[in-house]
Amino acid sequence: MSLSQRIYSLREIALRELESTASDRALEDWRVRYLARKGELAAVIGELGSVPGEEKKDAGRAANTVKAELQAAFEEAQQRLRATAPDEERVDVSLPGIPPMVGGLHITRQTLYDIEQIFATMGFTVFETREVETDEYNFQLLNLSPDHPARDMQDTFYISDTLLLRTHTSPGQIRAMRQYCPEPLRVILPGKCHRYEATSARAETMFYQVEGLAIGHGITLASLKGLFKAFANKFFGEGREVRFRGSYFPFTEPSVEVDITCYCMGKGCTLCKCTGWLEISGGGMVHPVVLENGGYDPDDVTGFAFGMGVERPALNRHDIDDIRRFYSNDLRFLQQFA
Ligand code: DAH
Repeated sequence: MSLSQRIYSLREIALRELESTASDRALEDWRVRYLARKGELAAVIGELGSVPGEEKKDAGRAANTVKAELQAAFEEAQQRLRATAPDEERVDVSLPGIPPMVGGLHITRQTLYDIEQIFATMGFTVFETREVETDEYNFQLLNLSPDHPARDMQDTFYISDTLLLRTHTSPGQIRAMRQYCPEPLRVILPGKCHRYEATSARAETMFYQVEGLAIGHGITLASLKGLFKAFANKFFGEGREVRFRGSYFPFTEPSVEVDITCYCMGKGCTLCKCTGWLEISGGGMVHPVVLENGGYDPDDVTGFAFGMGVERPALNRHDIDDIRRFYSNDLRFLQQFA
């Protein structure tokens, strides 16, 4: 048999075999057997070099034709298989893709950004400080000696005798003062705080605060009130009134609680317990001892400070009933704010 005859007979065998292939797997086996680089067709073509002139020409032509035919037959068979595949195996390339899950900002983070943004427009810089603090910074330098009764207000997670998880963002005040002193400063200190307390709908063991601190000449309690009025109108909406109630914090003198008028505008609702006022922050004039601990001269400068929660304003804003939803990682809750 001449080489070209062998090539044609190879074609007959291959095509007959192809007719009975009924799976992707069998089709691939067929391709490897006949068309691959080390397949049967390639093997016969490899013999071309050893046949004489005229026969070589015929065989070369036959090889090209058969190769093209087998390739075409293969593709046709592929399409035939695909068309008859069960529905679930068929790929419809015109279908829209499955969009990947996109993350979103946590509701606390969104609220924090809003608060930071508002204070930034009033000249406050964000000052980030540590979450693991020393007893000295968290309490002592803020005028809370080791036996101070006000420590009971902040049940503390201690890591060692001297290290703890900060119970408020106020220790950052000392760090900021020591960094800026003797320059005037205007900073807010956002961050995570921890308290060793039973959780409830209004309290979590972990929560966020934003501390504020301004030090310079001519700063008074009126400056703080003006600041809060501007803040409340931007954050909670126009028309909010602010009031100060006398209070006590060891690190401020005098100290106040800051209230704003409730959404119900005094008509009475469960949020404000029918008082018409919502408490949003503690604050006051920085205590001379604290100023001194930060390196400032209390006879030269004055300052105000405040500390407010982040979750509660978010709670109020979105009418959420339980603070524990914030950190229980239920996507059905979180995705509503993404
Ligand atoms: N650190 C206080 C707390 O966690 C809040 C606070 C009150 C901060 C008065 C202040 C302040 O800076 O002046 O309850």
